[in-house]
Amino acid sequence: MRLFIAIEIPDDLKKMIAGLREDIPGARWVPEEQIHLTLAFLGEVEDAVFELLNSALAGIHVTEFELCFSATGCFPGRERPRVLWLGVKPHPQLDKLASEVRTAVTTCAIPQEERRFSAHITLARLNAAPSRELDGFIEQPQKQRIHTFRVSEFILFQSRLTQQGAVHIPLRSFLLATV
Ligand code: 2AM
Repeated sequence: MRLFIAIEIPDDLKKMIAGLREDIPGARWVPEEQIHLTLAFLGEVEDAVFELLNSALAGIHVTEFELCFSATGCFPGRERPRVLWLGVKPHPQLDKLASEVRTAVTTCAIPQEERRFSAHITLARLNAAPSRELDGFIEQPQKQRIHTFRVSEFILFQSRLTQQGAVHIPLRSFLLATV
């Protein structure tokens, strides 16, 4: 199974995020229902490891927290944009969650990229040179910054690759601790 672990975005905010879309050359916008914040990408995981992974994730102890959107930007940089993203304001509980998820995943012998966790919500994948439209999108005042949402769980997703693109299937949710 191809798996990843993510924070779900509430439906009303997914709608708000989908509403940010603009005409940017070469942009393939993430379908509204698939908007999420990835904590870890696992790739193909053997069935034999699945139960071990579930118990490792169930052992994570992080308290609920509030996230707030921040600026938009692109990876890896403005000269060669590949991913257009919406950021979230740094939060120590988010870093703790990402780090505990990473530890849980690696204890199951599932390799993780060396790269530091960089919290973002992918808005679109980009397949064109930098453009005026892209610059305009990134530089405009960000109305979405006023929105906050409470993170009270994280989700283990399966990503099924189909001819129509990836389909994300929530397999299990893990509740965060309440204060
Ligand atoms: P993203 O959060 O930057 O969009 C499910 O495929 C999620 O896992 C995607 O949202 C994607 O990143 C993330 N991901 C990280 N590394 C990936 C990889 N090598 N292949 C596919 N998805 C990856």
